[in-house]
Amino acid sequence: MPTFHEPVLKEEVFQYLIKKEEGLIVDGTLGDGGHTEFLLENTGPRLRVLGIDRDASALERAKRRLVRFGDRVTYAKGNYSEIQSILKRSKIEKIDGLLLDLGFSSPQIDDPKRGFSFMRDGELDMRMDQTEEVTAAKLLATLSDNELEFIIKNYGEERRCKRIVRAIRRVQAATPVITTLQLSNILSGALYSKRPTKIHPATRTFQALRIAVNRELEHLQTALQDSIGVLNAGARVVIIAFHSLEDRMVKTFFRDEEKGCICPPRIPACVCGRKPTLKIITRKIITPDKKEVSQNPRASSAKMRVAERVYA
Ligand SMILES: C[S@@+](CC[C@H](N)C(=O)[O-])C[C@H]1O[C@@H](n2cnc3c(N)ncnc32)[C@H](O)[C@@H]1O
Repeated sequence: MPTFHEPVLKEEVFQYLIKKEEGLIVDGTLGDGGHTEFLLENTGPRLRVLGIDRDASALERAKRRLVRFGDRVTYAKGNYSEIQSILKRSKIEKIDGLLLDLGFSSPQIDDPKRGFSFMRDGELDMRMDQTEEVTAAKLLATLSDNELEFIIKNYGEERRCKRIVRAIRRVQAATPVITTLQLSNILSGALYSKRPTKIHPATRTFQALRIAVNRELEHLQTALQDSIGVLNAGARVVIIAFHSLEDRMVKTFFRDEEKGCICPPRIPACVCGRKPTLKIITRKIITPDKKEVSQNPRASSAKMRVAERVYA
């Protein structure tokens, strides 16, 4: 039996996403199919799922795992930011729920050839969709110092970005930086501390590069905006984020869509005419309990938010 990615907050996803046991749910981050499996196992035959993933190998694994559900589940290789065109291709107008469980999956980080892990030696790749052109090694070779510092500082929330870029450039003056352990060693050297640190010195920079390679924030923003047009009235959108920038983006988007009107406060009556499109269901974020975190440490930074489509 293969070991699968452990789905985070799966009971809570089910509870918030499924209002009735019928219709079509889009799992925009199918991964190993853990959430989808749980949804299908706990509902009747009238509930179906369309699973999307940009990683072809994830789709293959999920297909094998979910084969017993037959035509209750269909698959699309693609980016969740293309949700509108993916649905159009499948002749689907509207959906009854959307799940996005952001970030990477366990099989992606566990496979040294994918280049996501600073613990395993492999090419510095980090592409979720292996048909795309830009790898982490390519970013290191082509970005300017300022661009690299911006990425490491903002996506990695790493204060010591200048020191890191200087250390990378010193090595690059002699040889290209193209493997995970090469970069990991550079980072360990640049951030050396006599006192033991809570996290490995490479953690933040690897996270930053992964977000940049896969343009994760841009795709999330597009998916949020475009999902509004494809949700039926009452359909829920459930997002699990593992990074504060992603969570903030979801929170701001939900709030703005709940408010509708974007007129400046000094204007006495609304002139923009924008109506609310979402109602926020989770006023407080949902996080995993201690038991889940002890069984699955990766769940510790998960933050789940839920909103419901409304038509004013
Ligand atoms: C955290 S895993 C999902 C795990 C899944 N919920 C499960 O239970 O197995 C995230 C998955 O989303 C995919 N992914 C990340 N960004 C994506 C995007 N923009 N479009 C489509 N898939 C994406 C990754 O390739 C990965 O397989």
